[in-house]
Amino acid sequence: MENTELLKSINIGNWYLKTKIVMAPMTRSFANNNTGTVGNDIVTYYRKRAKDGIGLIITEGINPSPRGKGTFGVPGLYTTSQVDAWRKVTEAVHEEGGNIVAQLWHVGRLTHHELTGGLPPQAPSVIKADGLVHRLRKPYETPEEMSLNDIKNVIQEYAMAARNAIKAGFDGVEIHGAHGYLIDQFNSEVTNKRTDEYGGDILNRLLFMKEVLHAVIQEVGQDRTIIRFSEIKDDIPGYKWTNPEVNIKALVQVFKEVGIQIIHPSTNNFTEKMASGMTFHQLVRKHWDGIIIGVGNLNTEIASKAIKDGTIDLAAFGRPLLANPDFVHKIKEGHPIKPYQAAIDLKYLK
Ligand SMILES: Cc1cc2nc3c(=O)[nH]c(=O)nc-3n(C[C@H](O)[C@H](O)[C@H](O)COP(=O)(O)O)c2cc1C
Repeated sequence: MENTELLKSINIGNWYLKTKIVMAPMTRSFANNNTGTVGNDIVTYYRKRAKDGIGLIITEGINPSPRGKGTFGVPGLYTTSQVDAWRKVTEAVHEEGGNIVAQLWHVGRLTHHELTGGLPPQAPSVIKADGLVHRLRKPYETPEEMSLNDIKNVIQEYAMAARNAIKAGFDGVEIHGAHGYLIDQFNSEVTNKRTDEYGGDILNRLLFMKEVLHAVIQEVGQDRTIIRFSEIKDDIPGYKWTNPEVNIKALVQVFKEVGIQIIHPSTNNFTEKMASGMTFHQLVRKHWDGIIIGVGNLNTEIASKAIKDGTIDLAAFGRPLLANPDFVHKIKEGHPIKPYQAAIDLKYLK
C-alpha cells in the first residue's frame, strides 16, 4: 500500500512515535487573550489528534514572553497558570499514547503595542515591516533595536519557557526560527543591519539563533529540541534566498555545532524546486544526516515516497489535520481526506 511508510512506528531518542505523521504547528487563537492560558476545548482538540494516531504533535506557536505575542488568543509559557493549563493538554495526549512538543514563538517586529501589553516591538534593527498586524489590522510598528542586554534577556526567556514546557509535561520543544519572526529577523539580511557580533555575515547573523538553541538545549536536551527554519517569510511574499545552498549550509553548520538532532525545514510547497533542480528538503538532506521533518502541502503519497527515498524521516501535515481530526484513521481505512476550507475549519476547534 502507498501509505505504509507513513503508518510505521519509529523511535527517535526517547520518543516512541506510533506513526511518522506529525501535526504541524498551527496558531488557532483560542487561548484566553488576557491570561494566555489554554482551556478544555484545546485539551480535547489535541487529545483527539493523539488518539487518532498522530505520532508527534507540535503545538501552535506559544509565546515565551508578553512581547513575543503577534496576534490575539496566543497562549504563553511564562506564568504558573499557563504551565498548569498546558499540563492538562500534555496529560491528555500521553493518555492516548501520543507525544507533544511546545513550539516557542517570538514574533519580534511583527506586532503592535496593543498586543504586547503596551511595549513597543523588539527586533535586531529599527526596520518596520510592511503590512498589517494579523487580525488587529493596524500597520506594524517600528521596532526598538534590541540592546545586548535585551538579547541576553530574550535568550533567558526562551530558556525559561523551555523549562516551563518540561514542567508542563511536554516531550520537548520546537524553536520557531522560520517565517520572518524574531529568530529569522536576526538570520536575515533584510531585517538585520547590526554592526555588532549579531550582525554582518551569515554566521554572525545566525549567532542569536545559536545562543537560543544552546540555552534551550541546556534545559531540554539535544534529542528533545527541534528547530524550524525557512526561506519563506509571512510578511514578505515571494522572498527568496540569493543562493539557497549558502544559507542551508550555514544553518546546518550551526545545528551541528549546538548538537541538535531534529530539524524542520518549512516550505509551503514540498515539491517545488529551490536550486540546482532540487527541492528545499533535498538540499537540506544533502548536508544533514539527522532527523528531518518534511512539510508543505504534502499528501500521503508524496510524504510516503519522500520517507521511503530518505529525503525526510517524518511528515508534518497542517491544514489537512484541521479539516480531518480523524486523518490517520481515514488513511488506514482508505477513506477520502476532506479538503481544507479556511472559513469552516478555522472557525471552531474540532
Ligand atoms: C491556520 C494556520 C496556522 C499556522 N500557524 C503556525 C504557527 O503557529 N507556527 C508555525 O511555525 N507555522 C504555522 N503555520 C504553518 C504550518 O505549520 C504549515 O507549515 C503550513 O500550513 C503548510 O503545511 P500544510 O500545507 O500541510 O498546511 C500555520 C498554518 C496554518 C494553516
